[in-house]
Amino acid sequence: MMDRAALLAAARGAAGDAYAPYSDFAVGAALLFDDGTVITGSNVENASYGLSLCAETNAVVRAMNDGRRGGLVALAVAGPGGATITPCGRCRQVLHELAALGGTDPVVWCGEGEYTLSQLLPDAFGPEALLPR
Ligand code: THU
Repeated sequence: MMDRAALLAAARGAAGDAYAPYSDFAVGAALLFDDGTVITGSNVENASYGLSLCAETNAVVRAMNDGRRGGLVALAVAGPGGATITPCGRCRQVLHELAALGGTDPVVWCGEGEYTLSQLLPDAFGPEALLPR
């Protein structure tokens, strides 16, 4: 089972795949699922700067395109050189969608910081507002 240090190391490793020539700010994210799978992502920027995609969002997209719909138990994020960063507001919402589908509140590791996703995004808007029960 992946622990905090291992998941942070996976996030740092993922940052090596970032395409961030404009900001020179490489970010990596690693998602841990309840079956032990780790899915990573890194930021992918665009010459039209506003179209750039964050590491956390790319990891969620990778997971959902793999068919995952929940099971998110933990995630780690790392900035350039392993710097501590927390997920941006948009990524918190994107992460919430995947977590909410499986009814989990994942722990979020950012350097020495430890949070839950619900701490980072309290009273979140989610799929239950729109999907029939
Ligand atoms: N970035 C992420 O990938 N995740 C975050 O949570 C914060 C910001 C990226 C977006 C952009 O490519 C670069 O970092 C600078 O903002």
